[in-house]
Amino acid sequence: MSDLKKIKDEFILKLKNKSNLSEINQIKSDLFGKNGLISLQFKKIGTIADSERKKFAADLNGIKNELQDLISLKIIEIENADINEKLEKEKIDITLPERAFVRGRIHPVSQTIDEISSIFSEIGFSVEEGPDVENEYNNFTALNTPDNHPARDMHDTFYLDEKKQKLLRTHTSPVQIRTMLKDKPPFKIIAPGRTYRSDSDQTHSPMFHQVEGLHIDKNINMGHLKGCLNYFIKEFFEVEKIKMRFRPSHFPFTEPSAEVDIGYEIKDGKIVIGEGDKWLEILGCGMVHPNVLKNVKVDPVKFQGYAFGIGIDRLAMLKYGINDLRAFFDCDYRWLNHFGFDPLDVPTNYRGLSR
Ligand code: PHE
Repeated sequence: MSDLKKIKDEFILKLKNKSNLSEINQIKSDLFGKNGLISLQFKKIGTIADSERKKFAADLNGIKNELQDLISLKIIEIENADINEKLEKEKIDITLPERAFVRGRIHPVSQTIDEISSIFSEIGFSVEEGPDVENEYNNFTALNTPDNHPARDMHDTFYLDEKKQKLLRTHTSPVQIRTMLKDKPPFKIIAPGRTYRSDSDQTHSPMFHQVEGLHIDKNINMGHLKGCLNYFIKEFFEVEKIKMRFRPSHFPFTEPSAEVDIGYEIKDGKIVIGEGDKWLEILGCGMVHPNVLKNVKVDPVKFQGYAFGIGIDRLAMLKYGINDLRAFFDCDYRWLNHFGFDPLDVPTNYRGLSR
């Protein structure tokens, strides 16, 4: 067997059982390096007799190409094996069950605000917003509240500066002022939001929620106010009939003023709304005082209307059977899980508010 054939066979064998690239590099240099076997054969060409040289050179080139091709193929084979091994190791088993993940719940107060907005939007009210930090003018003065009014007392109001110019709004009524200063009548808006008073026990929290209502137009009277609130309460509690009473009251920004109670009874430990002989106060309302309209440059001879302020937390407690107001603000995840709502259950009038 010629030297060339020997080299070739020997290296084909060697290549066969190699499995990593550094071994292949070694083989490459053994063959084609400076003193590699093939390189030495090339150096020999000059010493070979003329008659055989041509054949020898052709054979040598042939073997060199063959070995180079085999090495290239081997490299591809090793690289593929590496990739396959990686793929095998890093395989994701998609048949495994998903890790339990917890979907958040919508807080009953947020749900109630959405329900209220949905009900009022059906009868033409749009939604306005105002800031939690108010000035004294919008919260009191423009609302016809005299300087000596008890609500202005430090014990009731959180003031933010010594001059008592900035405060945390004590009700959503300043949004009436903001709305009327911004636009021209008629107005038909609700304004849900946070309100603050220095008060804390089972039924009072220093931060609570109200929704303000304001409807100003030509020829609006107390009958419209009653009809609107009657419609709202029935829709909100999802009942056909509701027992409701207007009790005379006093607010500086409405004249006449009233508080509204709804009838209820306790049946089998559960509160039933709209029946029975017990009364529960849920909102304050009245016809907007002419002084308020003058303060926002609306002519009280041409325009009149009503306003109301509803306690949202109280409505939510009644509707969803929650008996301690403080639980709303405890951030207890178990409580939220029980009383909260699915994020996809967006309240709408046509689909049902709370189902
Ligand atoms: N702002 C009043 C309160 O907080 C409620 C109210 C609003 C009364 C609008 C009359 C008209 O008690």
